[in-house]
Amino acid sequence: MSDVAVRLAGVRKSFGPKTVLAGIDLEVRRGEFFALLGPSGTGKTTLLRLLAGLEVPDAGTVLAAPRRTTVYQEPRLVQARRVLANVTLGLPRSSRDAGRRALAEVGLAGHERAWPATLSGGEAQRVALARALVRDPQVLLLDEPFAALDALTRLQMQDLVAELCARHRPAVVLVTHDVDEALRLADRVAVLRGGTFADDREVGLPRPRDRDDPALADRRRALLSHLGVEPASALTPDPH
Ligand SMILES: Nc1ncnc2c1ncn2[C@@H]1O[C@H](COP(=O)(O)OP(=O)(O)OP(=O)(O)O)[C@@H](O)[C@H]1O
Ligand SMILES: [Mg+2]
Repeated sequence: MSDVAVRLAGVRKSFGPKTVLAGIDLEVRRGEFFALLGPSGTGKTTLLRLLAGLEVPDAGTVLAAPRRTTVYQEPRLVQARRVLANVTLGLPRSSRDAGRRALAEVGLAGHERAWPATLSGGEAQRVALARALVRDPQVLLLDEPFAALDALTRLQMQDLVAELCARHRPAVVLVTHDVDEALRLADRVAVLRGGTFADDREVGLPRPRDRDDPALADRRRALLSHLGVEPASALTPDPH
């Protein structure tokens, strides 16, 4: 696999009569940040589940580096365990120092003994990130990890994830409904629609990216159009 952390070739997946993925080809390299957009129900989570090894394809091949971990929209913490125990859940006791370091990296040093119920939504999601980090993933799968957060916390978490990914260089697959989030974070953005990628292109702009950069605005328009969202001017009511 050399530099490639994830490789899908001709992947098909149906549920009953419904074909969700109709021949997907995808490669994500080590250290590459890939964002996936697409209307609801197009199979984005299904694709992540295939990458995580939680689903098997009906046809085609899925190859992925062995250390993979997923962060979901909700933090999925065990309420009866303290924060550090949540971070190192399922790992040997010797991983507790690494767990503390991961908590410090996400800005939660000193919260090791807190109970999940006492955390804010943003803090709980940081714990989920620390739980992913401590596993030193080669492939980090993110399924709308910021969707449940308020706008300001979301921006802070995006910065944190960008920083952590730049430092640890996993291959990242981020599923999001937020075009600006994808354009802010990713090296490459694709749209999943009708079972295949309608668009799959490098962003190709240096970071940090300026939202008002005309090149970014063009790309945003193109992605929105692939998602079936037309510019506001096209929605002006017909005077007749
Ligand atoms: N285990 C399953 N059994 C039957 N149908 C399923 C199963 N998993 C997913 N589906 C169906 O596959 C389709 C794609 O689901 P998926 O969750 O991958 O969509 P999604 O793109 O992640 O949507 P959203 O943006 O709403 O999260 C949906 O129609 C869903 O109902
Ligand atoms: Mg989903």
